[in-house]
Amino acid sequence: MATLELVDLAKRFSKKVWGVRKMDLDVNEKEFIVLLGPSGCGKTTTMRMVAGLEEVTRGTIHLDGKDITDIPPRDRGISMVFQNYAIWPHMTVFDNIAFSLKLKKMPKAEIRQRVQETADMVKIGELLKRLPGQLSGGQQQRVALARALAVKPKLFLMDEPLSNLDAKLRVVMRTELKAIHQQTEATSIFVTHDQSEAMSMADRIVIMKDGEIIQIGTPDDVYFRSANMFVAGFIGTPPTNFFNIRCSVDGEEISLKHSNFKLVLPLKDFSELDAYNGKELVVGVRPEDIAVDSSDKALFTNKVLVVEPQGSHQVVALKLNDAIVKTIVSADQSVKPGDSIGFNFNLKRLHFFNMETENRIKTASEI
Ligand SMILES: Nc1ncnc2c1ncn2[C@@H]1O[C@H](COP(=O)(O)OP(=O)(O)OP(=O)(O)O)[C@@H](O)[C@H]1O
Ligand SMILES: [Mg+2]
Repeated sequence: MATLELVDLAKRFSKKVWGVRKMDLDVNEKEFIVLLGPSGCGKTTTMRMVAGLEEVTRGTIHLDGKDITDIPPRDRGISMVFQNYAIWPHMTVFDNIAFSLKLKKMPKAEIRQRVQETADMVKIGELLKRLPGQLSGGQQQRVALARALAVKPKLFLMDEPLSNLDAKLRVVMRTELKAIHQQTEATSIFVTHDQSEAMSMADRIVIMKDGEIIQIGTPDDVYFRSANMFVAGFIGTPPTNFFNIRCSVDGEEISLKHSNFKLVLPLKDFSELDAYNGKELVVGVRPEDIAVDSSDKALFTNKVLVVEPQGSHQVVALKLNDAIVKTIVSADQSVKPGDSIGFNFNLKRLHFFNMETENRIKTASEI
């Protein structure tokens, strides 16, 4: 259990290549932080700097208030698990887990107890005599987790530890890792580019792009109050739909004109848009906030392009001008390609973005 502070952290690999441009992050004790972002955005580089496997170009790393920026990896009190679990093939599961404890010269009886305890926690307590070659991929990854957890690290780093597992096992391991975290309370940083994994595991998500942090927030923050269009488009499956609209204020009303629809809203509820009178902006609407409306109050009517059944619901795609709009429709609604259907927006869940900066236009309650 520890706090971690990254201040102005950067890594430049060469004149043109930055691994990380700038990271400022405070991780609280016992917190489970997830780094999320597209390939090449600097997630692994950040983890390697924290672990001490990569020298920093600029900035500092403090663990529990102590500057560890220049301390060798083994003296940091940090454990790390990678995507390719890299357990030692010639050692039994027991010896793999016990390795670091032996280095620490822990008494034998204590080692035996700690190995058994940790192995039980990750559900491989029965496999201690096996060699890694005699284990499935999921079991090998559990050995890697046990090996990292056995030393009771101050900080536990996991870089895409589930990405080599099949989809079903990933979801199981996700839940187990969360339960293990609740038990160990080790401050943890977990890397993934799977946004549903991030949403389901994180206390807070750090969204990165091009070596920088774009937003830090709870899963609710990044989903319901996305800081900009990148986050709104990255989080959620299917992602947020964007509509370019022209805004005009007329007395107590504000109208938002799109080529396919016109929304008229009471100005008092959307006063933050007053500054956009006569200007264009972007409205973001999540797929679940676009509902079928067969009454004459539908905002727009459009032909269905494609229907994607998902079991619990169906994703219905429409073509609005040149843009594909995706909506989530309940499974019992009968929808076929070519059907002409009316739709409406959930007006409580509209997101507004500045067209030039792509940043969120905050509502009064968010400021
Ligand atoms: N050793 C290295 N030498 C030069 N450039 C590197 C090195 N390691 C990483 N980079 C570059 O730094 C940037 C960030 O890489 P990093 O591995 O941190 O990305 P990532 O977010 O972990 O991506 P992924 O999701 O694909 O694992 C990339 O542009 C990458 O090409
Ligand atoms: Mg990586």
